[in-house]
Amino acid sequence: MKKSKIYEGKAKILYKGPEQGTLIQHFKDDATANNNEKMEIFEGKGVINNRISEHIFTLLSAIDIPNHFIKRLNMREQLIHEVDIIPLEVVIRNVATGSLTKRLGIPDGEKLTRPLIEFYLKDDLLKDPIVSEEHIITFGWANQNELDDISSLAFRINDFLVGYFSALKIQLIDFKIEFGRIFKNEEVHVILADEISPDSCRLWDFETKLKMDKDVFRESTGNLLDGYHEVARRMGLININEVSKNNKPTLIKG
Ligand code: TMP
Repeated sequence: MKKSKIYEGKAKILYKGPEQGTLIQHFKDDATANNNEKMEIFEGKGVINNRISEHIFTLLSAIDIPNHFIKRLNMREQLIHEVDIIPLEVVIRNVATGSLTKRLGIPDGEKLTRPLIEFYLKDDLLKDPIVSEEHIITFGWANQNELDDISSLAFRINDFLVGYFSALKIQLIDFKIEFGRIFKNEEVHVILADEISPDSCRLWDFETKLKMDKDVFRESTGNLLDGYHEVARRMGLININEVSKNNKPTLIKG
């Protein structure tokens, strides 16, 4: 049966789900950077990100972080709860790099004294500008209660992920998450949506500081998939030593 597409983004497609209130989230191989100025296809990226994001969302569910993930359906797709996406990119930073160093002249690699939360408006035409809580409330992108929930969830997710990745000898430098509204028990709740993968995180090897995320593509410093595979290997999701017929690392059955 042909699925009915409801939205196509840079790295994902959303289709109508089998039941009311559900969607199918499909992970593409496309990588874009600098607001679509740079674009390339990395065969298998979507498969790896689907597995990595599934694993992280499952761990977050186990610590009671409300989120949209229901189950993985196949190599590239997962079943999710349909939400009304809040038009904000929420960034949490532990170490200064990327746009923070450019905007404020903070030395690259400087450890922050405490995690920093930032909000960007999701608007490609405006190139996702940074916005303050005042802007968010004034223009109604979220209300104060929602913003409080978003901040406290984002810091809890950061605390958990910093610890999780440290155990894998990976430093979580920063990451971007998105939230959505869902109607449950006659109330509107804010839940984590979208994905968490090396597309949306900065992940550095603890010792070598080697980058294992999309910066490798943004900065053209190597093959993006090598880093993604290494992250998936450390998470126990792929076996890099065992290659398949087409010379790709094999996925461990999940
Ligand atoms: P930045 O330093 O470029 O602002 O990025 C902060 C974090 O947000 C970094 O982990 C990459 C992630 N990010 C996205 O996932 N999507 C985006 O469009 C941008 C600009 C950043």
